[in-house]
Amino acid sequence: MTVSTVEDLPVAVRRLGIKYHIKGQIEPFVAVKSVSFDVRKGELVAVVGPSGCGKSSLVGAISGLVPYAAGSIYVTRERVKSPSPHLGVVFQRALLLPWKSVLENVAISLTIARVPKREREERAMAMLKMVGLVDFASRYPHELSGGMQQRVNLARALVRDPDVLLLDEPFASLDAQTREEMQEELMKIWMLAGKSGLFITHQIDEAVYLADRVLVMSAGPASILIDEVKIPFERPRKLHLKREPEFQELVDRIWEKVRLKRDEVGDEA
Ligand SMILES: Nc1ncnc2c1ncn2[C@@H]1O[C@H](COP(=O)(O)OP(=O)(O)O)[C@@H](O)[C@H]1O
Ligand SMILES: [Mg+2]
Repeated sequence: MTVSTVEDLPVAVRRLGIKYHIKGQIEPFVAVKSVSFDVRKGELVAVVGPSGCGKSSLVGAISGLVPYAAGSIYVTRERVKSPSPHLGVVFQRALLLPWKSVLENVAISLTIARVPKREREERAMAMLKMVGLVDFASRYPHELSGGMQQRVNLARALVRDPDVLLLDEPFASLDAQTREEMQEELMKIWMLAGKSGLFITHQIDEAVYLADRVLVMSAGPASILIDEVKIPFERPRKLHLKREPEFQELVDRIWEKVRLKRDEVGDEA
């Protein structure tokens, strides 16, 4: 994995280790042994790996919610110790407030930051426009489909104009067709918003379709990064790219790594 100095990098992760203390056990459980990687300006980097390899633990650490045992994380050059204002996070579950309108849900972080009402409504509307939901601003979350709720979730993460977007399996609970629509939608939003980001998924085709680079995590416990694959396709990428042989070759290469058992990949961090 090529890493540079943390200067001017939106995200820099260095020899990060994550352990959990389990009640009744003396030795902590090592979820992530040691990972190092960068997200460069304007890049969308995907992280794939088998279930339980530590993807959400990684998200937790970068978002400042999970303490880490070793190494360091920098978001826009600042060492992460608590949630960073430069980071917008999108989780698998939208977790919208059911008693607030779509507009109010998008604006919630601005309300907390005491941004005046007029300004926060304008900024929230601009985000709703970007995700194609202007006409739904006064609706309530239960009136939206799963895909629309995830669009609101995305708008909410973008409204404070964070430098970096961190997405943890944002489309995993959507049906296959809606998931593909959202992948295409995110591709467009990505080109408009001009952010840097980290996209976590267990779906290899989703990673190859969306990302500039795909990092492959080994199985757990004590996971490490075992491959880095550059994705050469120009944006905007159309969904039918997924049916091209070059696309499939990259998916197959990554799949060969993802399916390896932990004891088949060695211990080189
Ligand atoms: N709070 C926790 N306490 C103890 N073990 C945990 C905790 N969170 C995650 N783990 C363990 O760490 C490993 C990685 O989990 P996770 O980061 O959720 O993986 P992924 O998102 O890749 O499926 C798993 O073995 C999981 O059981
Ligand atoms: Mg997870």
